[in-house]
Amino acid sequence: MTQQLFSLAGKKALVTGASRGIGQVIAVAFAQAGADVAVAARGADGLAATARQVRDLGREAAEIPADLTTPEKAAAVVTEAIGVLGHVDIVVNNAGGSNFVVPFLDMRLSGWEKVLRLNLDATMWICQAAGAHMTARGSGSVINVASVAGIAAAPFLAPYGAAKAAVVSLTKTLACEWGPTGVRVNALCPGWTATELNRVLWDSPDGGKSTIANVPMGRWGKAEEMAGPAVFLASDASSFMTGQVLVIDGGLTAMA
Ligand SMILES: NC(=O)c1ccc[n+]([C@@H]2O[C@H](COP(=O)([O-])OP(=O)(O)OC[C@H]3O[C@@H](n4cnc5c(N)ncnc54)[C@H](OP(=O)(O)O)[C@@H]3O)[C@@H](O)[C@H]2O)c1
Repeated sequence: MTQQLFSLAGKKALVTGASRGIGQVIAVAFAQAGADVAVAARGADGLAATARQVRDLGREAAEIPADLTTPEKAAAVVTEAIGVLGHVDIVVNNAGGSNFVVPFLDMRLSGWEKVLRLNLDATMWICQAAGAHMTARGSGSVINVASVAGIAAAPFLAPYGAAKAAVVSLTKTLACEWGPTGVRVNALCPGWTATELNRVLWDSPDGGKSTIANVPMGRWGKAEEMAGPAVFLASDASSFMTGQVLVIDGGLTAMA
């Protein structure tokens, strides 16, 4: 019974930003739970590695190399995923990040636009393209990967925090618009998780200890620790849950 609740057998998923890190972990976890998975990102080698792991689990994988920062490309990724897999039941908008930190007053407009484009616009474009398909089918689960930076202050990361806060808002709005159709929309908010995104912080002389000084669990999260929450949100285990924010942060935001 419990195993069935978390099963994704027969489901078809699209995971963006699945060439490494949290997206790769989620794509493989979905395959372990029984789903076929389309994976999208720019890096073909990383995508191939993810797809290989999915296929090794006996599931179908579709590799879709794409830069998601234009509306045409984002929509094309959804079209290709549906074309290869037949349809899509689960969409994870995970591609994201910021490769700079800067005090707000020194921030250039180009930096703001770049971060908003990847973290908010790409999610919005994928939601539009996939949402049309999923609402017409009358079922599905969308998981938007936001961040604790979107639910609390994000000093020196203003565009990233603003983009992730907007992703949370979009998540709640789409959950309400699409509720009657059977399509659920939730946000997954990681806290400090050791990936390539923040290697400069945890791969440092102090081992990243200063960054996680306020984390009650006293350690960095691992990308693997996002697998369970993502499978939960994708599966029937969360069948009456929509418009919610699932925070996986070792207790960081509980301290606020
Ligand atoms: N790690 C953390 O502490 C943390 C905390 C909170 C939230 N998050 C969020 O979790 C998500 C995954 O982050 P991560 O830590 O796994 O980071 P990561 O290791 O840097 O992975 C980011 C993924 O996004 C893809 N990506 C980046 N730019 C892209 C673009 N223009 N088009 C398509 N794909 C693109 C990357 O692939 P390519 O480079 O191959 O394109 C990669 O697969 C992000 O949304 C991030 O904001 C992370």
